[in-house]
Amino acid sequence: MGHFTAFLSLLLCISFEVSASSWQPGILSPRRPTFQRSLPCTFNGTTGFSQLKYLNSSCADIILSNLTVPAGVTLDLRRLQPNTTVTFDGQTSWGFQEWAGPLLSISGINITITGAPGSVLNGSGELWWDGKGQSGKKKPKFFQAHALINSSISDIHILNSPVHVFSISDCHNLTLTNVTIDNSGGDGPGLGGNTDGFDISASTNITIIGAKVHNQDDCVAINSGANITFRDGVCIGGHGLSVGSIGGRGDNTVANVLFEDSVIADSQNGVRIKTKHGQNGTVTRITYKNIRLQNITKYGIDIDQSYGATGQPPTTGVPITDLTLVNVTGTVGGTGTKVFVNCGEGSCSAWNWTEVAVTGGKNSTKCLHLPVGVWC
Ligand SMILES: *[C@@H]1O[C@H](CO)[C@@H](O)[C@H](O)[C@H]1NC(C)=O
Ligand SMILES: *[C@@H]1O[C@H](CO)[C@@H](O)[C@H](O)[C@H]1NC(C)=O
Ligand SMILES: *[C@@H]1O[C@H](CO)[C@@H](O)[C@H](O)[C@H]1NC(C)=O
Ligand SMILES: *[C@@H]1O[C@H](CO)[C@@H](O)[C@H](O)[C@H]1NC(C)=O
Ligand SMILES: *[C@@H]1O[C@H](CO)[C@@H](O)[C@H](O)[C@H]1NC(C)=O
Ligand SMILES: *[C@@H]1O[C@H](CO)[C@@H](O)[C@H](O)[C@H]1NC(C)=O
Ligand SMILES: *[C@@H]1O[C@H](CO)[C@@H](O)[C@H](O)[C@H]1NC(C)=O
Ligand SMILES: *[C@@H]1O[C@H](CO)[C@@H](O)[C@H](O)[C@H]1NC(C)=O
Ligand SMILES: *[C@@H]1O[C@H](CO)[C@@H](O)[C@H](O)[C@H]1NC(C)=O
Ligand SMILES: *[C@@H]1O[C@H](CO)[C@@H](O)[C@H](O)[C@H]1NC(C)=O
Ligand SMILES: *[C@@H]1O[C@H](CO)[C@@H](O)[C@H](O)[C@H]1NC(C)=O
Ligand SMILES: *[C@@H]1O[C@H](CO)[C@@H](O)[C@H](O)[C@H]1NC(C)=O
Repeated sequence: MGHFTAFLSLLLCISFEVSASSWQPGILSPRRPTFQRSLPCTFNGTTGFSQLKYLNSSCADIILSNLTVPAGVTLDLRRLQPNTTVTFDGQTSWGFQEWAGPLLSISGINITITGAPGSVLNGSGELWWDGKGQSGKKKPKFFQAHALINSSISDIHILNSPVHVFSISDCHNLTLTNVTIDNSGGDGPGLGGNTDGFDISASTNITIIGAKVHNQDDCVAINSGANITFRDGVCIGGHGLSVGSIGGRGDNTVANVLFEDSVIADSQNGVRIKTKHGQNGTVTRITYKNIRLQNITKYGIDIDQSYGATGQPPTTGVPITDLTLVNVTGTVGGTGTKVFVNCGEGSCSAWNWTEVAVTGGKNSTKCLHLPVGVWC
């Protein structure tokens, strides 16, 4: 009996593999695959995409193998069963269409998301890039992780995102390890824009370790949330490690953030906190530790309480308190500025900067309301 069931499951599994590979164009509805909980559920090619609708609770181990996602639709992995593993294998690709995306959406509890060695999620951003970022051609955002709880994302390699890459929102206890975002092909005029690496909001206990990001906007942008760590990262080409912009959203509190042991190179800014002009919120207990700056073109360190209204006097509605910079060193390029601190009166306090040494570029003459112990 036991042997017979095992044999039958094996047959069923084989019948799925056969149905997947023997699918021919023109057959409207691919055969419903049969899943066995002890075996991985593999989806490949375009057939694999259309069979994803048959995913069920037997699929604890999902393999997406060279998956081709049609234009204008999301690879929708929301509401996965708890304890599911998703592995991207080979190249995952998406068709071209002007739409808002996302290309991929994942949510669930205790989910493990990983990329097999050599795997790539290819957004083919070059088909959208027009130098206008979030305006111009309508571009799909890439990777939506909303309500992804107690989960991990590792060894994911993203290539050429049309616009923003990771949107992390309403996530708790999420670890992202060894994620690569390679949008280097979008460097230069008329190409990639607003290709933020990790946008984080309304989330707690988020840890990003070993990320490599080459893009054209913030490497990380934390709009709200608490207990967020970014460590052992490399950010190239973008706008730096940012807290903000804060204000004017549903959640306007950022607390307990640590950026540590990371390099920011060939970027507009290095360390950056931006709070919106005329808005309310709080930014507290932010630490940048062991941060190396290299060839920063605008501001090595940029703390701005007039964000969105450059030139207007800074406002005090989003106080920045307990900001620690320790061992933040490196260089700013010729036309850049070492440090810019633009605070409202009394709205920046309890800052502790030690071993901060930025060389090259100019000194700002426009800093306002510097807290005690901070130079500009
Ligand atoms: C899907 O799998 C079948 C059988 O393993 C293989 O022949 C086919 O090339 C695969 N398709 C893609 C797009 O990888
Ligand atoms: C998630 O995993 C933890 C143990 O790691 C377990 O206690 C919890 O019940 C799991 N949650 C669900 C919804 O399965
Ligand atoms: C998920 O796995 C954890 C153990 O790691 C277990 O406690 C929990 O019950 C599992 N959840 C489900 C829904 O099976
Ligand atoms: C994906 O497709 C490539 C090229 O067709 C092939 O070499 C590779 O084996 C496939 N990978 C998987 C995981 O199916
Ligand atoms: C996050 O993890 C902590 C510690 O493991 C646990 O106490 C907490 O309940 C988890 N949060 C959620 C939303 O599951
Ligand atoms: C991340 O990469 C580092 C260095 O290559 C490696 O030691 C570590 O095991 C990797 N971690 C994961 C979860 O893949
Ligand atoms: C964050 O982690 C801490 C420590 O493990 C835990 O006490 C807290 O409940 C977690 N927060 C959430 C929202 O899960
Ligand atoms: C942040 O982490 C600390 C220490 O682990 C914990 O006490 C606190 O509850 C966490 N905050 C939230 C909002 O989960
Ligand atoms: C400095 O960074 C810019 C991009 O921000 C790049 O164009 C330039 O080549 C870099 N300069 C050096 C000397 O690496
Ligand atoms: C900010 O808070 C102040 C004081 O509570 C309030 O008067 C003002 O309307 C708020 N501004 C915004 C944009 O919400
Ligand atoms: C300071 O940061 C650099 C990386 O920028 C690191 O190599 C060095 O060990 C750090 N120094 C201390 C004292 O931790
Ligand atoms: C400032 O930060 C340094 C390095 O983390 C620490 O040693 C020192 O105690 C802090 N000073 C204050 C006044 O908190």
